[in-house]
Amino acid sequence: NKGAAEFLPDQLDLDSLRRAAASCQGCGLYRNATQTVFGEGPQRARFMLVGEEPGDQEDRRGHPFVGPAGRILDKGLEEAGIERDDVYVTNAVKHFSFVLRGKRRIHQKPTAAEVDACHPWLDAELALVRPEVVVVLGATAARALLGREFRVTHHRGEPVPLGDALAVATVHPSAVLRAPDRDQAYAGFLADLKVAAQVV
Ligand code: URA
Ligand code: SF4
Repeated sequence: NKGAAEFLPDQLDLDSLRRAAASCQGCGLYRNATQTVFGEGPQRARFMLVGEEPGDQEDRRGHPFVGPAGRILDKGLEEAGIERDDVYVTNAVKHFSFVLRGKRRIHQKPTAAEVDACHPWLDAELALVRPEVVVVLGATAARALLGREFRVTHHRGEPVPLGDALAVATVHPSAVLRAPDRDQAYAGFLADLKVAAQVV
């Protein structure tokens, strides 16, 4: 597979992109996943949130961040004062990657090659939405957008330039759910979202 570029539509608008992405075969992940989970939100959104890849529920339902991680994200956005209709939500990789353990589908981190293969979709979303702030959720999104040297642990909550936008990286909401001290992890996550809320 040579990546998503050859599946991009001629007409670059969000609906055309979404329709084209539904039949992307730019990497092997389309084979086992249920469907492409494309980004969602208004084209005029000032905030773009970028996660890693859809999870089990997102894969079944076809929408980003509708599972447990999405509930943490929604709570954080609300408490940071970021309005839902000012947010476009997407992922670095548009198909769910998993391994089967019995009947359970266990999330697998996308490989660097898969992140690269899927990058044309993310680039096209950025070019169309032209957000003022990009909230980078976790290491995979950071790698996709800020390069392999970027360390979320060192530079979370610091606005950094990303094209015409400012990016603010934070931990992935799933990491908040898994943290030994969930309240503390959530507090750090919320503090980073508040930075993002205040840069515009
Ligand atoms: N985790 C992600 O990174 N993205 C989703 O859409 C859901 C969970
Ligand atoms: Fe295409 Fe991305 Fe899905 Fe791979 S993960 S098939 S590049 S949409």
